[in-house]
Amino acid sequence: MIAQIKQEIQGLNAAEIIEYVQQKYGPRAVFSTSFGIEDQVITHLVAQSGKEISLFTLETGRLFPETYYVWNRTLEKYKLPIKAYYPNTDAVAQMVTEKGPSSFYESVENRKECCYIRKIEPLHRAIKGFDIWITGIRAEQSANREDMENVEWDAANAIIKIHPLFHWTLEEVEHFLKKNGVPYNPLHDKGFPSIGCQPCTRAVREGDDFRAGRWWWEDKSKKECGLHVTK
Ligand code: ADX
Ligand code: SF4
Repeated sequence: MIAQIKQEIQGLNAAEIIEYVQQKYGPRAVFSTSFGIEDQVITHLVAQSGKEISLFTLETGRLFPETYYVWNRTLEKYKLPIKAYYPNTDAVAQMVTEKGPSSFYESVENRKECCYIRKIEPLHRAIKGFDIWITGIRAEQSANREDMENVEWDAANAIIKIHPLFHWTLEEVEHFLKKNGVPYNPLHDKGFPSIGCQPCTRAVREGDDFRAGRWWWEDKSKKECGLHVTK
């Protein structure tokens, strides 16, 4: 199945890939947006497609104010419903009561626990019942991601994953945003190439890796939250 999709999308540009997903899967396709620059390109393309693809975001409860700002601008411009998924209240309450509101700085184990409660478990609910999951991943974002493919079988979640911007460069993403007047996170212009939760993201310096500002206190090899398990 994956091989067939790969073959069918060979040579297609990102807009054509979204259209292909729309035609082939319609309401069985779902797109996850964190309102990062790549996701904004995809939202723009989804809005131009047949509009059957569902959108969702994982509202971890620890997002930047700027992320809410771009979320609002996106709703205004595209008028697409974006379903918000929240963590389980009891799980968050228990973790924060036992360990305080910043336990993620104390150990990788604590950080993974927080990511599990605030992102992974809600993700399971968000993609349940869909056949294909669209993301804004680009190969260039990290060494891990270079080893991924633009279409994959996600065995852990039993779903096909597709990354329409997989081969795009940062310049291509920025050019698209500008050309099409796409709203984007103002933090992007302040040195934040990759934006996650506020306490776990900081600006990077010129020449740093894209993801250097994510969980910056951790060893490089551990810096994935588990949403995208790489091979
Ligand atoms: S992460 O694994 O480090 O958190 P990253 O921020 O690079 O992921 O984003 C990669 C893709 O994961 C995004 O394009 C988006 O599809 C999805 N994603 C990440 N965070 C969220 C979120 N909070 N809500 C919905 N989708 C998300
Ligand atoms: Fe928790 Fe940080 Fe993971 Fe967000 S990125 S879920 S705050 S550990």
